[in-house]
Amino acid sequence: MRRIAVVPGSFDPVTLGHLDVIGRAAGLFDELHVLVVHNPDKSALLPINRRVSLLEQSIRDGGLPTNIVVASWNVGLLVDYCTDVGASVLVKGIRSQVDVAYETPMAIVNRNLAGVETIFMLPDPSHAHVSSSLVRQVAGLGGDVAPYVPAAVADFLQGTRV
Ligand code: PNS
Repeated sequence: MRRIAVVPGSFDPVTLGHLDVIGRAAGLFDELHVLVVHNPDKSALLPINRRVSLLEQSIRDGGLPTNIVVASWNVGLLVDYCTDVGASVLVKGIRSQVDVAYETPMAIVNRNLAGVETIFMLPDPSHAHVSSSLVRQVAGLGGDVAPYVPAAVADFLQGTRV
C-alpha cells in the first residue's frame, strides 16, 4: 500500500522552515501532498494560485524529492481532501510549544472526523523564529526577507513591493 501524507497550511508565503519540513516529510512517505488551504482566520497577502506556483518553484529550485505534489483546497474539510487522495497522515511543522497548543485540538478533531493521524515534525532549529506572518510584515514595510524565504519568494515579494 502506498503511504500518502498531506502537509497542509496557508503558505502565505512558503518559508524556509516550511521547505525544511516538506523535504523531511517527503523522505518518509511514498507521496507527499503539499496543500494550500484558505485559512479564514488570517488576512491573506497572496492569492492561492500564486502561493501554489511559488511552492512549486521553490520545491523545484531546492532540489526536493519528486514525490511531492502541490495542490490547493478551499471547499470542505481538510480530511475530505485526505480521503479523496488516499492519505491517512497529516504532517505539521512545530517550532515551539505555542505551535503544539495550536495544532493539538485540530489533530484530535481530524482523527475523530476521519481517522486521519497527525505527525508533528521539528524543523531545523535555525528556522524556529521564521513565520509567514513575520515575512508578510517585514516585506510590507520594505525590509529584506531573503534570509527567511526561498529565492523565488524573495524575488517575487521584492518585485511586487507588497
Ligand atoms: O498555515 P496555517 O494557517 O496555520 O494552516 C492552518 C490550516 C489551513 C491547516 C487549518 O486552518 C486547517 O486545517 N483548515 C482546514 C479546515 C478544517 O478542516 N477544519 C476542521 C478540522 S481542524
